[in-house]
Amino acid sequence: MYSKFIVANWKMHKTISEALSFIDDFIPMVKDIKDREIGIAPTFLCIASVGKAIKDTNIKLCAQNAFYENKGAYTGEISPSMLKDAGVEYVIIGHSERRKYFNETDEVINKKIDACVKEDLNVIFCIGETLEERQKDKTTEILKTQIIKGLDKINSPETLTIAYEPVWAIGTGVVATESQIAEAHSFIRNQLREIYGKVADKIRILYGGSVTPENIKTIMTIDNVDGVLVGGASLDPVKFAKIVKYEF
Ligand code: 13P
Repeated sequence: MYSKFIVANWKMHKTISEALSFIDDFIPMVKDIKDREIGIAPTFLCIASVGKAIKDTNIKLCAQNAFYENKGAYTGEISPSMLKDAGVEYVIIGHSERRKYFNETDEVINKKIDACVKEDLNVIFCIGETLEERQKDKTTEILKTQIIKGLDKINSPETLTIAYEPVWAIGTGVVATESQIAEAHSFIRNQLREIYGKVADKIRILYGGSVTPENIKTIMTIDNVDGVLVGGASLDPVKFAKIVKYEF
């Protein structure tokens, strides 16, 4: 297993100067961290300047999305090769907000993962059920479909990280319970084993949804939780540093 992975997803927040001010404050707070991996996914607009500011630090540059073609007449899109060129190491694909507001289907997500993998980019592949799906007892069915369709013909498990983000826990302050997280992560691990065999044990499975400095320690002690994907609490350098520096 790789080291624990703690990733900030800034979503549509921060101007370039706000992003740089965060980085200025954040670097000294985490510079001595060596036993875990830290990632930050700014908006596309801030990728170049944040990338420059974190170059040669222990913080990895991540992106929040990518298109599945490398160039062409696709107004408004950004390609995996452009992200690679900008120094991005990880790309978040299939976030529930992309599924919900931009109609991304499992098939589109699969094409995006494939395109990123072909550019040697690591992928943070997001999956998770809605509240309605959980209430109808469909959580495992949904996760299974998302995994099978999203990872169809993706043969490079070493480039993958999975993020389990129950939609109802995102931005709501309602964190999933320990047993809900443990159950979902173990189910995901087993699904990955069915596809990739033993190598699946090396794929990191992150939890996302209302992670805070207060609940990080509990979350990180749950079996099969290999890190977290943090939205709201990652916008403040002090809060995000507290999450990164959680103690075992
Ligand atoms: P919050 O941490 O704001 O709940 O967001 C989680 C998330 O969607 C990270 O990708």
